[in-house]
Order: sequence, then C-alpha cells, then structure tokens
Amino acid sequence: MQVWAVANQKGGVGKTTSVVALAGLLAEVGYSVLLIDLDPHGSLTSYFRYDPDELENSVYDLFAGDGSVTKELVQQLVVETSNDRIDLIPAATSLATLERKAVGQEGLGLQVAKALRHVRSEYDFVLMDSPPVLGVLMVNALAACHHLLIPVQTEFLALKGLERMVRTIKMINRARSRELPYTIIPTFYDRRTQASVNSLRELHHRYPDRISNAVVPVDTKFRNASMEGVVPSELDPGCRGVHAYARLLRSLLEPGKQEAS
Ligand SMILES: Nc1ncnc2c1ncn2[C@@H]1O[C@H](COP(=O)(O)OP(=O)(O)OP(=O)(O)O)[C@@H](O)[C@H]1O
Ligand SMILES: [Mg+2]
Repeated sequence: MQVWAVANQKGGVGKTTSVVALAGLLAEVGYSVLLIDLDPHGSLTSYFRYDPDELENSVYDLFAGDGSVTKELVQQLVVETSNDRIDLIPAATSLATLERKAVGQEGLGLQVAKALRHVRSEYDFVLMDSPPVLGVLMVNALAACHHLLIPVQTEFLALKGLERMVRTIKMINRARSRELPYTIIPTFYDRRTQASVNSLRELHHRYPDRISNAVVPVDTKFRNASMEGVVPSELDPGCRGVHAYARLLRSLLEPGKQEAS
C-alpha cells in the first residue's frame, strides 16, 4: 500500500483537485484507493456529496477517546464514493476543534498512521487531503505518508508558501526515520500570462530535482467535475487537465520512486 499526502500551507492551490484527479486515474487502471479528508472545511467530503456538518462518523473519531485506534473503528469511518474503487474517510466540521484539544496531548501526531496499519491489505493507495495550515492534522498526514505532493499555483506569491512548506518538511524529517520525498506540482498554469511563465521558471531554478515535469493547466473541467461529484477523468478523460495529472501519475509510479508498506 502506497500512502501519498497532498499538502501546501497555502490555500486554493489545487490540493483537493489533485487528490480527486489522481484517485480517479488510479481507479481507472484498477487500483483500489482510500481517500482521507483531513481538512476541517471538508471540501473532499463535500465533493462526494457528504455533508461535513451532518456526518455522524468522521476522521475526527480517530482523535477522540483515549487515542487507541482499532480496526473496527477505522472500518466504521469508511464510506463509498461515486466511484466503485474509491472509498473515503470523510471530514467533519468538528475537526476544527482539534487543534485546541491537541495542545499538550502527546502522540496525537500518529493517529492516522495507526489507522492505516489496519487497512494495509485492503487498498493499493491512500491519498490524504490536508488543510492549508500547519497543525496536528497536517502533521498526521506528513507522518503517515511515503510521498508528499505539493501543488503550487504558478503565480507571483506562490513561492513564499512553498518556502514555508519546505521548512515544515525539514522539521518533520527530524522526527522521521527517513527523509520524506516530495514532488512539487505546478498548477493553474496559463502560458499566456507572464506570472505563470516566470513562476514556473523560478520553480525549476530553485527546486530542479523536486519539480514535476507535468504542469497542470487552468482547466474549467475541474470545477465542472466537482459540481457533478465525479472524478475529472470520468467527466472528461480527454481534457488537458486530466492529461496533465495522468502524466504526473506516470512519473510517480516509475519504478524506484515508491516504497511500499
Ligand atoms: N487546474 C485548475 N484549473 C481550473 N480550476 C481549478 C484547477 N484546479 C483547481 N481548480 C478549482 O479551483 C478551486 C480551488 O481548488 P482546490 O479546492 O482543489 O484547492 P485547495 O488547495 O484544495 O483549496 P483549499 O486550500 O481551500 O482546500 C476549486 O473550485 C477547483 O475546482
Ligand atoms: Mg482543499
């Protein structure tokens, strides 16, 4: 089972879209995928037509009680999506209270990692969406994953957010047994704008070994897919945006890039 987290401390950069686009493409080639929504806003949860205000069970339950995580608990949290091969552990708005609760409580950084041990044989891939803030939820995602994907909007201010994220990775690496590999995904690329062209060039210059060759263009199909509640490759497999994510996926699946658990 491969575990990927999608994170960036900047909002609106295409994190949730990257999760659903990659999940859809993985499902298409036959992999079973578990998505975990770690964002209290619950965009990924809403994408698949669940209401984060109404849900009885959510990823929050992993942090409730005495901190023990049983297989039964994890199984209770999983719901279906519009795609047969994609399951979801949804978010609830109660997650927003977690940061306060987590202060001073040791060990809450590994709750998601503990949960994943129970589903290791059930899924080929786990993709986690995380909130644009560094807190206990993002720390859980970074601690539990084998690979981190960082969508970065190709615009003027994007690099600042990325610098913060790279500092966070360095901090996380001190607590991990091995360094966390990461891939930067340029998003919202519009080659007609100077801001896009310049920031992509700057990304290549500063992070030559980390940046994905696949560049995700601005594509309105992503919003259409979210309005339909289906993964983008089901709505329009031939659109430019899906092509970009397919290219990204091929490079992520190259032999030698992965480490299984
Ligand atoms: N490449 C793209 N082209 C056009 N629209 C896009 C693209 N990627 C995402 N979007 C749209 O932009 C909006 C923000 O994207 P998304 O929700 O994926 O960002 P996010 O980083 O998860 O945001 P947040 O930090 O709020 O969770 C959504 O409406 C989405 O449909
Ligand atoms: Mg999001």
